[in-house]
Amino acid sequence: MNIILLGPPGAGKGTQAQFLVEDRNMVQLSTGDMLRSAVKEGTPVGLKAKAVMDAGQLVSDEIVSALIGDALDKLDTDTGVIFDGYPRTAAQAESLDELLATRNRSLQHVIELDVDVDALIERITGRFTCANCGEGYHDTFKTPAKDGVCDKCDGTEFKRRPDDNAETVRKRMEEYRGKTAPILPIYDKRNIVTRVDGMADMASVRAEVAKVLDS
Ligand code: AP5
Repeated sequence: MNIILLGPPGAGKGTQAQFLVEDRNMVQLSTGDMLRSAVKEGTPVGLKAKAVMDAGQLVSDEIVSALIGDALDKLDTDTGVIFDGYPRTAAQAESLDELLATRNRSLQHVIELDVDVDALIERITGRFTCANCGEGYHDTFKTPAKDGVCDKCDGTEFKRRPDDNAETVRKRMEEYRGKTAPILPIYDKRNIVTRVDGMADMASVRAEVAKVLDS
């Protein structure tokens, strides 16, 4: 099964993708994570992407589609994939169709996380991750069980994303509204879109997403 998780910054795409990895042995392909690794490693892609990401704008379609193609090539055809943060433009949606078709894959579901954009600023600015294993947390909605210690790996260092400040988030929202939301009708026409209430608590969203995949 191949699915897309779609929604604005902070909608919970990464959170729900991680649940699906745990629950169904699917693989999460997050272009945001791939680009952040490239920036960290200082690869040519990372060097190109850094300033664009810091400004809250979209990295070029060619770069992200190439990252997805390379990642798909490393997987067996029967491994289920969650596309998290891709596609984000009409050109990327077209590329994804091609990338899937040439690898004997098809798309079963597009899940749109429906959220109140005003609440997202709080979600994003409160987000942090374990510097060691990458486990995600939130100042209010998901704190480590023991203060200052990662639940997963006992790490004690945490980090915040440089693009998680209010000004950049506003730009990211604008990019979503202008370039990503308009691709939904492409999938609506194929009758594969389900809207899930992304404002519910994480466990309820997880249960709703599971229902969609089991339908
Ligand atoms: P990317 O990393 O994809 O960021 P994003 O789309 O802005 O999404 P986020 O990771 O911010 O949010 P999320 O929906 O995953 O929410 P999360 O689960 O973390 O992209 C970053 C940048 O890379 C882009 O701006 C662009 O420059 C570039 N890029 C990436 N892909 C690209 C592409 N395809 N084309 C071009 N450029 C691209 O949740 C957020 C917080 O809320 C967390 O703390 C979480 O704990 C909490 N939370 C989650 N769900 C709930 C809930 N139900 N209730 C309460 N809190 C919740």
